[in-house]
Amino acid sequence: ARIAVLASGGGSNLQALIDRFHPDPHASARVALVIASRDGIGAIGRAERAGIDAVVLDARAVTADEFRDSFLAALDTHRIDLVVLAGWLQLVPAEVVARYHGRMINIHPALLPAFGGHGMYGMRVHRAVIQSGARVSGATVHLVNERYDEGAILAQWPVPVLPDDTPEALAARVLAVEHRLLPLAVEAIALHARPLPSGSGPLAFGLM
Ligand code: GRF
Repeated sequence: ARIAVLASGGGSNLQALIDRFHPDPHASARVALVIASRDGIGAIGRAERAGIDAVVLDARAVTADEFRDSFLAALDTHRIDLVVLAGWLQLVPAEVVARYHGRMINIHPALLPAFGGHGMYGMRVHRAVIQSGARVSGATVHLVNERYDEGAILAQWPVPVLPDDTPEALAARVLAVEHRLLPLAVEAIALHARPLPSGSGPLAFGLM
């Protein structure tokens, strides 16, 4: 499967996919395109070092129509089968979401459906988890639909919330698990080789 990774930041999840799939030319998946939401972010350098095409698509720099058209064109040109949002902080054009129905996933740094939704990203997620008194957090991979963080959950991996945890410490603990969960989920989907129905059961990696 040919993967596009959408990133807005350092791209450590992108790196986890590169490290997992790129050493093996016969791997089930391969990152064929990186879409960055702005210039200069770490994900672009990671793509370049791995010899992967990278494009910057900044919704704030163009009209909505141009943004949608360049998005679809980039995915078409690279014959993308699966779109992976890994730290992507902009809206994905509705036409892209519709075209990749069942073939677009996101990784979220908490156990959805809790601690998701609008405004829940970055350190805010971990701060909210700690403030809630939850003893467990984790990472979630889910299908992307028109409503952020509400698509079917495909895979989750729990991590403990420790007494006196800071958001930064919890974030690092969750991120380490994301780097294991995301390649597993991508591989499972790639081996499926067809769109996942929205009622797909969890892949349940958390117990491995
Ligand atoms: C991850 O925690 C991801 O779950 C969240 O944004 C962060 C991205 O990190 N959506 P990176 O850019 O992959 O290093």
